[in-house]
Amino acid sequence: MPFSRVIGTGGYLPEKVLTNADLAKLIDTSDEWIVSMTGISQRHVAAENESTSMLAEQAARRAIESAGISVESIDLIIVATTTPDQVFPATACLLQDKLNLHNGCAAFDIQAVCTGFVYALGVADKFIRTGGATRALVIGAETFTRIIDWTDRRTCVLFGDGAGAMILEAADEPGIISTHLHADGKYRELLHVPAGVSTAYDDVLNGEAYLEMQGSEVFKFAVNALGKTVDETLAANNMDQSEIDWLVPHQANIRIINALAKKLNMPRERVVITVNRHGNTSAASVPLAFDEAVRDGRIQRGQTVLLEAFGGGFTWGSALVKY
Ligand code: ACO
Repeated sequence: MPFSRVIGTGGYLPEKVLTNADLAKLIDTSDEWIVSMTGISQRHVAAENESTSMLAEQAARRAIESAGISVESIDLIIVATTTPDQVFPATACLLQDKLNLHNGCAAFDIQAVCTGFVYALGVADKFIRTGGATRALVIGAETFTRIIDWTDRRTCVLFGDGAGAMILEAADEPGIISTHLHADGKYRELLHVPAGVSTAYDDVLNGEAYLEMQGSEVFKFAVNALGKTVDETLAANNMDQSEIDWLVPHQANIRIINALAKKLNMPRERVVITVNRHGNTSAASVPLAFDEAVRDGRIQRGQTVLLEAFGGGFTWGSALVKY
């Protein structure tokens, strides 16, 4: 069985909602500015005692339920996250324990910031295609609001927390048609948290390790890179843009999404949009949007869906999926 296909999806958002009006009480901003510049009206924020692996568990359980499988039948877990619970073990191992899955299957994290889920999907697909796994749990989960400087109005309005999951299974037909993964570390300083375990660890210990971003540079690069990735994906599969039923883009900014939809000639009603309600949940954004559109009946079995994402690194990529 040389392919993988999606057999279940799940999503989870923390209970607490932070609206633009709430933010306007904390910083010098307005609902009007945030909506017109980003399309975001609200975002979800994890409770203090809620960790990334806890969000991941909720999304995973929903995906497992929708796939109608037993937890024990999973033989690979990949969690894409930039905001792991701990330095180690991997969030995937913490999740494995939370799921009480003790069959010894491989479990590891992927760090590609907002492109993390697309990377994880690409890796899981390759595991399955080469016989290394038969049923993979693939997750994007973030408590991104923990690395946000809540006094920086240029960045704090953009992000939220959440988790999205997919179950992939070996299949005779695709499934995952192709994935296209890219990075260029030359742009690392345009979007980063300039501290970690081996550099500026004091900032981490003092709770001062925050996301920094050159917003307009990120914006320009993202539109261009994603446009090229769409062309690459269509060319690799000898497909025309008219054959794509749904675009499930990374939910960073409605203006980036609109630019991409325009390039694909995609009417607005064929683009899954959650950025208005979720903000940018980094690696969780694409699987959360995919799950929402599956559950409300928009994405149907047999349809062709283009997933794309862009994030710090820079990293970017796409996945073409026959659902
Ligand atoms: N409220 C009010 N005014 C604001 C706010 C705010 N929340 N934020 C910025 N401004 C002001 C700035 O202070 C500035 O005013 P000034 O010139 O008087 O100082 C003005 O608005 C313009 O600021 P810019 O930062 O230049 O605004 P820009 O046009 O670049 O828009 C935005 C900012 C919306 C963030 C845009 O750059 C963007 O969306 N970029 C892409 C971001 C993105 O997608 N990031 C995620 C990538 S994925 C990942 O890996 C995390």
